[in-house]
Amino acid sequence: MTAPTVDASGPYPDWDPLAQYPIDPPGSCNPHPRLAECRRNTPIARGQGWSDMGEAIEALELYRYDDVNAVLRDNETFSSSSIREGMSIVMGPYVLVGMDEPEHKRLRSLVAVPFRPKSLAHWEDELVVQVVDQMIDTFAPRGSAELVREFTFRYPVQVIAVVLGLPVEDHAQFHEWANAIINVSADPMHGIQCSKDLRGYLAEMLADRRRAPQDDFMSELAAAELDGEVLGDEEIFSFLRLLLPAGAETTYRATGNFLYGLLTNPEQLDRLRVDRFLMTQAVEEAIRWEPPLLITSRVATRDTEIHGEKIPAGMQVVPHVGSANRDETRWERADEYDLFRESKPMISFGSGVHMCLGMHLARLEMRVAVNRLLDRCANLRLDPEAVERDNPHIHGETFRSPTTLPVLFDVG
Ligand code: HEM
Repeated sequence: MTAPTVDASGPYPDWDPLAQYPIDPPGSCNPHPRLAECRRNTPIARGQGWSDMGEAIEALELYRYDDVNAVLRDNETFSSSSIREGMSIVMGPYVLVGMDEPEHKRLRSLVAVPFRPKSLAHWEDELVVQVVDQMIDTFAPRGSAELVREFTFRYPVQVIAVVLGLPVEDHAQFHEWANAIINVSADPMHGIQCSKDLRGYLAEMLADRRRAPQDDFMSELAAAELDGEVLGDEEIFSFLRLLLPAGAETTYRATGNFLYGLLTNPEQLDRLRVDRFLMTQAVEEAIRWEPPLLITSRVATRDTEIHGEKIPAGMQVVPHVGSANRDETRWERADEYDLFRESKPMISFGSGVHMCLGMHLARLEMRVAVNRLLDRCANLRLDPEAVERDNPHIHGETFRSPTTLPVLFDVG
C-alpha cells in the first residue's frame, strides 16, 4: 500500500459539537449520578424508549452489569430489530447491528475478515500513523491546539476514507456526507439526501473495483467469499454507511474522552508519557470510564422476565452499557479514570453476537492517536486560560465526548 494522503485543509470552522444529536441538548452534561442512583434503587425500571417513527413508547431500562450482559448475550430472547428499523432510513436494508440470526451471522462472517487483528497489523504503520501525523502537522508548529475541532473529530473519518480507497480530493465531501448521516435526527431530509448521494458515489466505486480490483477495503468486500456465498451490492452499501456512525463517530468521541481523562489527571499522563507500555491499559480504562455511546436497544421476542419483572413479547429493552461499566460491585471508585486499576472485562464494545466488529481498530486508532500526540507535542497539557474561559467537560446523555480540548505544548 502506498502512503495515504489525507485532507489536511484544517478544521471545519462552523462545526459545533454541541449542535449534534438534538436528543442530547446543551445542559445534559453528566448522566452518571442519575445512573448510579438507578443502579442502586431501580436497576430494572419501566422508562421511555422510541419507536422507529420517533414516538415515545414504554421500555424496560437495565442498569447493572450482569443484567445488561445477560440481555446482550441472549440474542434469541432479545432481538436487535429495533436498531435496524431506526437506522435503515439512512443505512439501507442490511444494517448489520440490527439483524438477527441466521441472517446476521452470514453477513458478519463475510464483512469480518479485514477487521481481524492479523489483517489490521499492516494498517497501523501504513495508514493510521500516516493519517494521524498529517493531522498533527496542521497544528504542531503552533504550540497550541483545540484538539476536538482540529484532531479527534477529523482523523477517524479520514482513516475510513483511506481504508475505503477514496481519492483525497473527495475526503471533505465524504466527511460532510458522514456528518449528515450521523446526525439524521437533527435534519432528516438532509440526512436522507446525503445517504442517497453517498450510496450513488459508492455504487460507482464498487462497479469500478469489480472491474479492476485495487489494494483497498472496497475491493476486499467485493471479492469476499465464504462457502460459496458473496456479498450483494446493497449489503456492501449498507455496511459501508454503517461504518460512519459505528466506526468514525464512536472513535472520535472515545479518543476525546481518553484525552480528557489524561489531561485532567496530569500525574497519570506523566506516567504514560514516560512508560508507553501503559498505553493498552490506559485505552481500556478510557473506554470503560466514558464510552462514546451509553445505550443500545433490544426487543423481547417472547414473553419473559428479569428478576421477576414481566417483559411481554414486543417490549423494547434498553441496556445501559455506560451504567454497567460503572457498576460499583465490579469496580471500586468506578467514576474515576484510573489507568492503574485491575483489568476486568468491560462492556463498552457490547457482548454476544453483535460485539463490536471494529474494536481492534478502535483500540489501535486511540493508541496511535495518543502515542503520536505525546511523541510530537512535548509537555502536552490543558491550556489554563482557555479552560477558565470555555469550561471543557464531557457532554451528553446518550453520546458522550468533550465539548472542547484546548491544549498547549512545547515547540522545537
Ligand atoms: C471506542 C469505539 C467503539 C465503541 C465504544 C463501539 C461500540 C460498539 C457496540 C456497543 C456495539 C454493539 C451494539 C449492540 O450490540 O447493539 C458495536 C457494534 C459494531 N461496531 Fe463498534 N464501537 C466502536 C468502534 C467501532 C469501529 C472503529 C468500527 C469499525 C470501523 C465499529 C464497527 C462496528 C460494527 C460493524 C458493529 C456491528 C457488529 C454486529 O452487529 O455484528 N465500531 N460497537
